[in-house]
Amino acid sequence: MEYRGYDSAGIAVIDPGDGALAMRKKAGKLANLEKEIAEVPLPDAVIGIGHTRWATHGGPTDRNAHPHTGRNGRVAVVHNGIIENFATLREQLERAGHELGSDTDTEVAAHLLELELESGVDLTVAMQRVCSVLEGAFTFVAVDRLDPERIVGARRNSPLVVGIGDGENFLGSDVAAFIEFTSDALELGQDQVVTITREGAAVTTFRGEPAEGRRYTVDWDLSAAQKDGYDWFMRKEIFEQPRAVADSLLGRRSTSGRLVLDEMRLSDDELRDIDKIIIIAAGTSFYAGMVAKYAIEHWCRIPVEVELSSEFRYRDPIVDNQTLVVAISQSGETADTLQAIRHARKQRSKVLAICNTNGSTIPRESDAVIYMHAGPEIAVASTKGFVTQLVACYLLALYLAQVKGTKYGDEIDAVLAQLSCMPEGIQTMLDRAEEVYALARRHRDASTVLFLGRHAGYPVALEGALKLKELAYLHAEGFAGGELKHGPIALVENQLPVLCVVPPQGRDFLHEKMLSGIQEVRARGAHTICFAEEGDDTIVPFADELIRLPRVPVLLQPLVAVIPLQLFACELATLLGHDVDQPRNLAKSVTVE
Ligand code: G6P
Repeated sequence: MEYRGYDSAGIAVIDPGDGALAMRKKAGKLANLEKEIAEVPLPDAVIGIGHTRWATHGGPTDRNAHPHTGRNGRVAVVHNGIIENFATLREQLERAGHELGSDTDTEVAAHLLELELESGVDLTVAMQRVCSVLEGAFTFVAVDRLDPERIVGARRNSPLVVGIGDGENFLGSDVAAFIEFTSDALELGQDQVVTITREGAAVTTFRGEPAEGRRYTVDWDLSAAQKDGYDWFMRKEIFEQPRAVADSLLGRRSTSGRLVLDEMRLSDDELRDIDKIIIIAAGTSFYAGMVAKYAIEHWCRIPVEVELSSEFRYRDPIVDNQTLVVAISQSGETADTLQAIRHARKQRSKVLAICNTNGSTIPRESDAVIYMHAGPEIAVASTKGFVTQLVACYLLALYLAQVKGTKYGDEIDAVLAQLSCMPEGIQTMLDRAEEVYALARRHRDASTVLFLGRHAGYPVALEGALKLKELAYLHAEGFAGGELKHGPIALVENQLPVLCVVPPQGRDFLHEKMLSGIQEVRARGAHTICFAEEGDDTIVPFADELIRLPRVPVLLQPLVAVIPLQLFACELATLLGHDVDQPRNLAKSVTVE
């Protein structure tokens, strides 16, 4: 599973000699684990589990690597996903005298499974019972050293596939794990438990009722399997966005219903004293920061500046201990952003990181962290990174509103409820991918493409243009709708494609003003491609081509509006024969200034 990106790895097998669990775990690349196994070899075993971890709860260390074991080392478990109620469960276990050796949510599940086994049930029933008390999204695979004939897996909202072999069976997060041994697969449904033995696989629900998985034959080679059948990691990651956004919303509230951050080293009093926020970021993350400005200022009434990380230090920024610097970075390693937060901390300002990579340098050097929980992003150009950064920014804005009291609890709940509908909105856009691909085919000969947006749609326009530059190597520019007439309109010539992100209707003059901008370019011969919400008929006369967006609040619209722009760039670059995952001259993580 190495292609998925990971920060530590581990393996556990049952020793056929003495029935003991033999386990090796190492932070870092698989080579570290391989070296460890070469030095301290594992027994020749026929049953075992392994895992590559992408840290969510607890940093990427040997100790936090999977598998995790129960109190008496009888059961070993690997896990993907997030157990939302793990803090409560952990407290209960600790009160009952359990000592947990890691910071992970997974270890809690290992202890619970072992307790069930000790009560006399088998691993299958133990898994059913434990899954029934867990909240969140998870995939588990577990072994019981006293029952070395079976491996039990379970899934809720996180993938798990069975590979059906001849006298051997497999479990994996996707078929890439076993494609070299078998192409017969069984996909599990939601809330199902699977027990595999050498002979076969049996599926049940969490309640223990018999169930069926979906049998299919995989006709992909290994490289396609790693991309889940998509041609590019980027396209796969675009289509993962409903799940990524749902995951990034998980586990954000305490038992009392208050919003919580992942790592918080700032008190509420310190946050109440904040009188200015400066967001620093690079590339796509910078555009997420621009959207954040609208949300934070509107919901928290705190002035926000957004600054490119690479520029921040050189303008001698005015920051002090009442300034909160928010660093947005998918990788957590971007040198420009890192140097900027170091500079900010020297001026005694507080730093909060929004990051996807647990334990990376930027969150380590920050006072507070919100992890995006997007899962590893492999394609160089960021997609699910962007939308989960937006979610993290909205959560930050709501958190500050909660602490500062600028929004009532029920108002915060209302926005959270709107956010929880966004995965569905994104899915609606993905279901329209074919319309966007057709658009890309019609414009494959374009040499310049302009993007227009206003308010929260302006950063979306900029991001749409960046995607086209990055992937299709096209001259693409994003403009604020109102700025057009002050210069850029000179670029407009006959049939020039202009992609317009139209704000939702009913927002003061915003919508109307955007329409005027569209008319201005159209009057000069531009070919307008409009992205406008369902039911917005006013746009029809001015749109040469029209793609509908679901109806969502204006501040959240970037989450749905960016999707067709990502699809457009991905498809156009594919048509032009470019390497979409690794565009020329670009790197995923830029660790030089
Ligand atoms: C690089 C990548 C961009 C990314 C930017 C910021 O330039 O190619 O896709 O947006 O870095 O990365 P970060 O990891 O800090 O979000």
